[in-house]
Amino acid sequence: MAPPLEDGKSQADSAISVVINGTQYQVPRSFSAVTLNEYLRNHLHLTGTKILCGEGGCGVCMVHAVYPDPSGSGKTFRRNLNSCLCPILACDGYEITTVEGLGDQKHPHPIQQRLTDHYGTQCGYCTPGWIMSMYSLTQEHTDGALTKNLVEESLDGNICRCTGYRPILDAFKSFAKDEFKEPDGLGIDLEDLGTAVCNKTGKKCAGSCGNNGIICVKPLPTVIADNAPPWFQPASLDELFQLRKDLQEKNPYFLVGHTGVGVYNDGPYHAFVDMRHVKELFVIDTNSEKLTIGAGLALTDVINLFQLEAARTPGFAYLKQLAAMISKTAHVGVRNVGSIGGNLAMKNRHQEFPSDSFTCLAVADARIIVGPEERSYSTTEFLDVDMKDKLILRIELQPFSSENFFKTFKVMIRAQNSHGYVNAGFRVELDKSKTGALVVTGSAIVLANIHPKFVHASKTEAFLLGKDLANVKDMQAALAVLNDEVNPEAKDDEASPAYRKNLCVTLFYRFILEIVGDGAEGRYHSGVTGIVRPLSSGSQSFETMEKNWPLTKPMPKLESLQQCTGEAKYISDIDEFGMLHAVFATSTEGNASIFKIDPTDALAVPGVLKVFTADHIPGNNVISSPSEEPEELLASSRVVYHGQPLAIIVGVTRAAAEEGARLVKVEYRDVQPVVLTAKDAMREKSFFDQKPDQVEAGGDADKAIEGAARKVSGELELGGQVHFHMETQTSVVRPTEDGLDIEAGTQWIDHAQTAVSRSCGIPKNAINVSVKRVGGGFGAKVTRSSIITCGTAVAAFLTRRSVKMHMSLVDNLKTIGKRYPYFTKYEAGFDDSGKLLGIKMEIYCNLGSQKNDSPIGHSKSFVENAYKCPAWKLTYYACKTNLPPNTYCRGPGSTESVYFVETLMEHVAASLGKTPIDIKQQNFFKDGDKTMDGSRLSDVRLPQVTEQLLKDADVTNRLESVKDFNKANRWLKRGLAVVPLRYPCTPTFFTYGCLVAVYHTGGYVSVTHGGIEIGQGINTKVAQVVAHELEIDMKYIRIQPTQGITNANAFATGGSITSELACQAAMDCCKELKGRIDPVKKSVGCKTWEETIETCYGMGVDLSARAWVAPKPAQKSIYNTYACTATEVELNVLTGEYQVNRMDVLYDVGESMSPLIDIGQVEGALVMGLGYYTTEELLYSKTNGENLAPGTWKYKPPMSKDIPVDLRVKFLKNSPNPSGILRSKLVAEPPLNMSCSVVFALRDAIKASRAENEKHATNAPTWIEIVAPLTVERAQQLCKLDLSLLRYRD
Ligand SMILES: Cc1cc2nc3c(=O)[nH]c(=O)nc-3n(C[C@H](O)[C@H](O)[C@H](O)COP(=O)(O)OP(=O)(O)OC[C@H]3O[C@@H](n4cnc5c(N)ncnc54)[C@H](O)[C@@H]3O)c2cc1C
Ligand code: FES
Ligand code: FES
Repeated sequence: MAPPLEDGKSQADSAISVVINGTQYQVPRSFSAVTLNEYLRNHLHLTGTKILCGEGGCGVCMVHAVYPDPSGSGKTFRRNLNSCLCPILACDGYEITTVEGLGDQKHPHPIQQRLTDHYGTQCGYCTPGWIMSMYSLTQEHTDGALTKNLVEESLDGNICRCTGYRPILDAFKSFAKDEFKEPDGLGIDLEDLGTAVCNKTGKKCAGSCGNNGIICVKPLPTVIADNAPPWFQPASLDELFQLRKDLQEKNPYFLVGHTGVGVYNDGPYHAFVDMRHVKELFVIDTNSEKLTIGAGLALTDVINLFQLEAARTPGFAYLKQLAAMISKTAHVGVRNVGSIGGNLAMKNRHQEFPSDSFTCLAVADARIIVGPEERSYSTTEFLDVDMKDKLILRIELQPFSSENFFKTFKVMIRAQNSHGYVNAGFRVELDKSKTGALVVTGSAIVLANIHPKFVHASKTEAFLLGKDLANVKDMQAALAVLNDEVNPEAKDDEASPAYRKNLCVTLFYRFILEIVGDGAEGRYHSGVTGIVRPLSSGSQSFETMEKNWPLTKPMPKLESLQQCTGEAKYISDIDEFGMLHAVFATSTEGNASIFKIDPTDALAVPGVLKVFTADHIPGNNVISSPSEEPEELLASSRVVYHGQPLAIIVGVTRAAAEEGARLVKVEYRDVQPVVLTAKDAMREKSFFDQKPDQVEAGGDADKAIEGAARKVSGELELGGQVHFHMETQTSVVRPTEDGLDIEAGTQWIDHAQTAVSRSCGIPKNAINVSVKRVGGGFGAKVTRSSIITCGTAVAAFLTRRSVKMHMSLVDNLKTIGKRYPYFTKYEAGFDDSGKLLGIKMEIYCNLGSQKNDSPIGHSKSFVENAYKCPAWKLTYYACKTNLPPNTYCRGPGSTESVYFVETLMEHVAASLGKTPIDIKQQNFFKDGDKTMDGSRLSDVRLPQVTEQLLKDADVTNRLESVKDFNKANRWLKRGLAVVPLRYPCTPTFFTYGCLVAVYHTGGYVSVTHGGIEIGQGINTKVAQVVAHELEIDMKYIRIQPTQGITNANAFATGGSITSELACQAAMDCCKELKGRIDPVKKSVGCKTWEETIETCYGMGVDLSARAWVAPKPAQKSIYNTYACTATEVELNVLTGEYQVNRMDVLYDVGESMSPLIDIGQVEGALVMGLGYYTTEELLYSKTNGENLAPGTWKYKPPMSKDIPVDLRVKFLKNSPNPSGILRSKLVAEPPLNMSCSVVFALRDAIKASRAENEKHATNAPTWIEIVAPLTVERAQQLCKLDLSLLRYRD
C-alpha cells in the first residue's frame, strides 16, 4: 500500500511527480496555487533558490529544468526557467536542478568555483540565479558552440545590483570556446559542466541516489490545501475544450508557461488547466506552402524555427526579422517556457499590452486559428474575438516574394528584458521592374503601444501605394501622413505621446533608409546601422603589498563560495515549523483621513489569523527613536502617502496574508490633492521648516555674481532612485520567555532595537537582535527596516508566535522611501577665463512625508566637490510631499550635490565655448585652501589624479575622434565628459564595537564587529586585518553575526566608513590580545599559534578582547579621497537609445586593504549610478501618489548589457593615506558620484545633433537643460527632430 502523504491524503491524490536534485517527489493536487519557488523554499527548505520580484523580472529564482519536448518529438529540453512563475504542478515529469544540486562548498561545481574566483559576488543574493542561468546555458551548448557573445546575449534575465556585472561576465565568459586563457589554469571541458557534483562523493552525479515517492518535507497547512483551486491536465483537444466550456463562467487559467502572471495578475483563479499535454498545441508543419506552428510553442522554439526556416525555405526569409524581435521578448528564462499563444491571449485580454509576437504576426499577415471552431482570424480581427469559451490552436504564416522587405524594431528603456516604448513591424512590397525607382505596391505598417486598438497605420499604408521611396519628397510626404495618423494615448505610466509618435515616424524612416541604401548619403547610413554593441571588456589595475599579506591581498569574499553554492543563509530564507507570516495592508490614498478600517473580508481568507491596527499596538505607535520626529508604525488617523501601512495581517502563509491585506477595506474622508515633486512643494510652499537652511561661506555671493564679468544661471531636476536591494525588507521575530529574539534585515541594529522597544513597550534589554548578513541595503535598511522589524515584532508579541515578514517587491517599492529627488536653481559668476567668483544655489530636497532621514545637514560638505569658489550661498528647502519618507541611498547627499556643481561647471564651460575639464581644472582646490566646513586642505591629489586619468584615457585625442565621428555620422553622435571628485571623509557619529575571541584547542578566532555585512565585503576586510595583526593564517578566522549585545549602541552601517572603522576596532582588539599573548609566547618560547594559545589558556589569560571606536564628533573632514572619471557615450538620435562606449576611472583608495573587494565597490557604484542617471525612472499617479512603477515591468535598474562596453578601473598607485586606517581610504559610495558623467557626455552628443539640425532649421543652443534620469525618451526628445530633417542627404 502506498504510504500516506504528510497532509493526510493518499498517494492517489498525487497530481504529479517531479525529480528535484535527483530525488523524486510526489506533489498532491492541493499544491495547485504553489509555485516551484515556494515548493523549493518553503516545503523542501532548498533556500539556495531565492525570491525577489515573483514577476520573472530579476532572475534570482532561476533553476535548471530537463523535460521532454511537449510536441512529442522525443527531444529533451535542458533549459533554465523562473521558478517564481512556474507552478509546481506544471513540473510533472521534470527533472529540476537547483543551486544546491550542483555542488557544495566541499565539492563546488566548476561554475560555482569560477564565479568565486572571479570575485563575482557581493551581497550574494542574486548569485544562485546567475549560476543556474549559466549552468543551463552550458547544458544547451555542449556542442562547443558556447561563445563569449552567446554568454553575453543569454544572461539577459538576471539582475545584480551590487557588482556592476563585469566580474560575473568575466567569470562566465571564461568557459567560452573563444576565451583563450583559463584564468585559474584549469582547463575545463564543457562536458564536465554537464553534470552536477554529488554532495556525498564529490564526483560527477551518477544519478543512482534516486529516491522514489518522497513527499515534501513540509506539507501545506490544511486550511490552504482544502481551499486550493482544482488542477486539470487534459491529454486531448476534446478534453481541453470540454474544460473550456465547463469553466467559461469562472476565471480559469489555461496555462502553458504560466509566465503571463509576471505581467498581469488576473487572479484569483478558480481552476488551473495545464495544456502542455495536448500535442496539437505544439505542432510544427513546414511541409505545406504555409508554415504552421502550434500556439503552445515556447518563444525559444519559435525563434529557433524562424531562424531555420528563414535560412532554408524560399519565401520565409522575412522570419529572420520576426525572430529578431521575439529574441527581445522578456529574457531566456521566460522565452524557454512562455508560449506564443499565451502572449497572443494576453494581447486579446489586455489590448494595451505591447506584444512583440502580435506585432510580428500582424506585419506578416499571419492567421490565428482559434478553436474549438477552428476559425481563422487576421491579427486585427483576433482582437475582437471573445475568448471566453475559446482557445488559440495554431498560427499560420505565409511566404512572401522577394519584392517584399521586412524590418522589426523594438525601442526599450534599457538594453535587455524590457517591453518596448514602441514596437514596430514594417513591410513594403516594391515594383522591381522600375530601375532607379522604389515604387511601393503594397505595405504593412504595424505599431504597438499607441493605443489598445491600434494595429496598422492604414492611412499611411494606403498613401504609400504607387509612391517612390527613392524620391525624398514621396518619403517625407509618407512620414507626414504617418505623423498625422499616429496619436498615442496619454498615460501616467507610459512615455509621452510626443515621444511615441516621434518614434513611429523615425523608425519608419530608418526602415526606408535601409531600403534606399546607397541612394542616401554615406553619413545617413548611421540611421540604418544604429548602435552596435561589441563584447564588453574591463581592466582593473591596483597595487598589493605582499609583505603585508593577507592585508592588501586580492582575495574573494570570505562568503563567496557559500553564496555560489546557495549555502549562505539570509533572513528571508528562515522558515520554521509553525512560523506565521505578516504582511502590511497599506493605504490606497496619498493624503486623506482614515474613517474606518474593516478587516472582515481579510479575516475570511483561509489561513488569515489576525488583523492588527494602530489600536492594537502594545507600546507607542512609532518606528522612530526618541531623538527623531515621531513616525507612526501604522497610520492611526491620517495617511500621508499611498502605500502607508495601516494594518498588519498575520497568516499561516505569506500568500494568505497577502490576500488578506488586499481585502482590508478602508473608508477615507477628507481626501486632499497630493504634492509629489520638489517643484510642486516649492510652488505650494510645502516645507518641513518654513525657514530654509542657509549656508554662506566666504564672501558675499550675491555681490560677487552681480559684479562678475560673466554669469550663468539654470535649473535642474533630479529624480529619486529605488535602492533595489535584491533581498527585500525582511525580519523574523521569535517571542522568548522574557522578550523577543530578532533576526532583522537591518543596517542599524540599535535603531531597530530602540524602535521595537518603543512599539512593543518592553525594555531594550528584553530584545536580542542579530544580523548575519543582508541581501543588499544601499541605505534602505538604515532606518526604514525598522518599519518591518516593528511590524513583525508587534505581530509576534501579540500572537506569541514566531513571525516572519518578507516584503514582496511591490509592497517594498510602494511603502519604502527612496533616494531624494531634487529641484535646484543655480547661479554662478566668473571671469572671462572661467575662474569662479560666486555661486548661489536654491536646493529643494524632496524628503517625502517625513524629515527624519534628511540629507540636508551633511550634503553641504559635498557641494563644493573639487572647486574653490570665494563666495557661496546655499539655500536648502526641506520639501514635504506625499511620498513615502525618502531615505539614504548609496552616496546620499554627496551624489546629488556633486551633480549640482558639476552641472554648473559644465554650464560655465559651455557659456565660454571651452572644454569643461579645462574650466574644472582651473578652479581646482589647492593645498592650503579652506573648504566650506572650515577644513584646511593638504595633500590635494586632484591635479595628479585628473592629469593621470586624462592621459590614461587619452582624453584629448578621443575628444577629437568624437568630433570626427560626429561629422561622419548624421544619426549617431558621441560625447565624452570628465568628472573629477573630492570626497571628504567626515565620520561624525560613526561608532562601532568589536569583539575578538580566541579559542583554545586549535587557536580558532571568532570575531563579531559592529558593521553589517551588506555585500561590501566588511567581513573579509576585518578578517584580513585580524589575520595580519595576529600574524596568523586566514583559515583560523570566522566572522560571526553582528549582535545587539556585543555591539550595543553601535551606529548604522553606511557612509562608506564602516568597513574602515570596524577594521580599526578589530585592530584595537588584536593589539590588546597581543599585549596579553606575546609575553607568554616569549617567556615560554611557543613555536606555533596553537601552542601559544593553549599555553595562554593554561595560564588563565583572557583570550577575548573588546574595542570601541568613536571618532571625535567633528564637522570637519579628516581626509579627502580623490578620483576622476571619463565617460564616452554613443547616442542614436533617431530613437534616443544610447550606450556607454567606454568609462575610465582613476580612484585614490590609499593603500587598499582588499583591492578586488574595493574594485568591486567602484564598479558596482558606477553602474548603480548609471542606472540612477539613465534608466531608473519613478512614476507616480498625480491623483493619489500611487507608485506606478512598483515592480520589474516598469522599474528598470541596469542589466549586464547596460554597463560600459569598455570599463577600465585603476587605483592610484603609491598613495598611502597617512590619516586613514591602515593607510586606506573609503570607497563604497564616492564612485557613484562620478556616474553623472554619463549625463554630461550625453548632453554633448545631443548638442552635436542639435548643432546639425541648426543647419537645416532649429537653433543650436549653447546649453541644454536636462531632467534626470536622462531616459532614452528624454534623450531623443532633446534632439528636437522635425520631419524636415528626415531626408537622404544634407
Ligand atoms: C519578465 C517578463 C517580461 C516580458 N516581456 C515581454 C516583452 O518584452 N514583450 C512581450 O511581448 N511579452 C513579454 N512578456 C510576456 C511573455 O511573452 C508572455 O508571458 C508569454 O509569452 C506567455 O506565454 P505563457 O505560455 O507563459 O502564457 P500563460 O501564462 O500560460 O498564459 C497567459 C494567458 O493566456 C492564456 N492562454 C495561454 N495559452 C492560451 C491559448 N493557447 N489560447 C487561449 N488562451 C491562452 C492563459 O489562460 C492566460 O490567461 C514578458 C513576460 C515576463 C514574465
Ligand atoms: S523572483 Fe523570479 S524573476 Fe524575480
Ligand atoms: S551580489 Fe548581485 S545583487 Fe548583490
